[in-house]
Amino acid sequence: MDTSMLAMEISAPGGPDVLVPTSLPVPVPGHGQIIIRLAYAGVNRPDALQRAGSYAPPANASPLPGLEGAGTVVAMGPGVTRWQIGDKVCALLPGGGYAEYAACNEAHALPIPEGLSLREAACLPETCFTVWSNMVMRGKLKAGERFLVHGGSSGIGTTAVQIARALGARVFATAGTDEKCRAVEALGAETCFNYETTDFQEEAKTLGGFDLILDMVGGPYLPRNVRALADDGRLVQIAFLQGPKVELNFAEMMMRRLTLTGSTLRPQSDAAKAAIAHQVETHVWPLIKSGKFRVVIDSEYALTDAPAAHWRMESSGHIGKIVLRMPE
Ligand SMILES: NC(=O)c1ccc[n+]([C@@H]2O[C@H](COP(=O)([O-])OP(=O)(O)OC[C@H]3O[C@@H](n4cnc5c(N)ncnc54)[C@H](OP(=O)(O)O)[C@@H]3O)[C@@H](O)[C@H]2O)c1
Repeated sequence: MDTSMLAMEISAPGGPDVLVPTSLPVPVPGHGQIIIRLAYAGVNRPDALQRAGSYAPPANASPLPGLEGAGTVVAMGPGVTRWQIGDKVCALLPGGGYAEYAACNEAHALPIPEGLSLREAACLPETCFTVWSNMVMRGKLKAGERFLVHGGSSGIGTTAVQIARALGARVFATAGTDEKCRAVEALGAETCFNYETTDFQEEAKTLGGFDLILDMVGGPYLPRNVRALADDGRLVQIAFLQGPKVELNFAEMMMRRLTLTGSTLRPQSDAAKAAIAHQVETHVWPLIKSGKFRVVIDSEYALTDAPAAHWRMESSGHIGKIVLRMPE
């Protein structure tokens, strides 16, 4: 096995061009860890936040960006029971995905779903873990409920729309262009509202309110989301792209028995992530096998073109996931 590897590191907090190639030692597996020779790594918005200096990695994580990837197990630490050298896996990473090799807890790796390429599988863990844990485990989405996801064309949105639809919910979304809205509807949303021309709060009145809203926007959306919820509705916050601070009348929460909650995946314990992994493998992997959920890939870049991948993400022109290809 190689002893050094190509990686893209954050040379200083800033724009996409602060991502620069470097040579680093291949990680050594700790207890219960595997080393994956990555074939592809998914790009996620939190990578851009980390690069810009507003989302520090947890203390024990690699300082390299990259929260997910897929490839081949090439080394194992003591105590690993599930995997063998040579197994193909995709994995949720605590960081370190923008590199040829990455270390992760063996319980955060999953088999490649039947029929999927490594390229597609690399795009699954971060979004599937986030969507399942927030939409189902926390948000308690049930068949027949009205579900709204903002950012419907994002990596998170395209995943949430398809899984919610497969669970039997009535799915609604918002996105910033008509083209994005049509793409989201093709994935199973009943209606995707173009927020430039349509007010989701008004639409909520007509529909009788949403039982569950999954939101990444925050800021001015917070009071609007609260008003758009049905009685007993739940709002699950997974990011605050427009800021976390806002004036809110909490009386409505009390009078209409609303639940306001949220979570972020990365700082959670290994055990909590393993529990989510188990649920994702049990409930989401079969949806892939049966064709109810597919990976939507917007574009692919070589690892050393990570700055261009970040420019693409920050343009918000993409629909679905952006993926990095490792050198052969
Ligand atoms: N809580 C967690 O554990 C967790 C895990 C993963 C991701 N996340 C968060 O989930 C969100 C989506 O992640 P992703 O990787 O799927 O990202 P993504 O594909 O880049 O999607 C973000 C979407 O948000 C919209 N957007 C961008 N900037 C915005 C702004 N300033 N105000 C309002 N909308 C904006 C864009 O859609 P339009 O052009 O249609 O507006 C864009 O498609 C990110 O905020 C990310 O940080 C949270």
